[in-house]
Amino acid sequence: MTITEILQRDHARLEDQAKHLRDANRSDPRHDFSTFSEAISRHMFLEEHAILAFLTTENSCNYLDMPELLRQHDALRLQMARIEEDLAASARPTIHGLILQLLAEMDAHFLFEAQSLYGLFDTELTKDQQQRLRGWLQVLGETLPDQA
Ligand SMILES: [Fe+2]
Ligand SMILES: [Fe+2]
Repeated sequence: MTITEILQRDHARLEDQAKHLRDANRSDPRHDFSTFSEAISRHMFLEEHAILAFLTTENSCNYLDMPELLRQHDALRLQMARIEEDLAASARPTIHGLILQLLAEMDAHFLFEAQSLYGLFDTELTKDQQQRLRGWLQVLGETLPDQA
């Protein structure tokens, strides 16, 4: 499995969880939000700590879109913090809109990554680098399936 396939597969899983969250959003989103929030946080952690750190180590960190990726991650985290605050304060009607906004931001972010970044990992890294990066992903993301 290539680096891009590993990451896209994780996106597909998150999109699936987002679908559940969208459905639960009409009644009580608490459980699905916490599942989704944990999963997307782990995915962003992988991107920042495995991929970004690896590219820096390999002196391959010439991806101009990286700062934008980090900015979008921060925006997603901020939005999730807002939702958590609202959920803690009780089920105010704003939560519904905040969750829809979060999922729209996630969709835009995934599109950005797929179009600007993910393909580069398979085309610009050598086979050897890709093998090592897969190892880093494996160490950090014990839940990512079939990474060999
Ligand atoms: Fe991301
Ligand atoms: Fe991603």
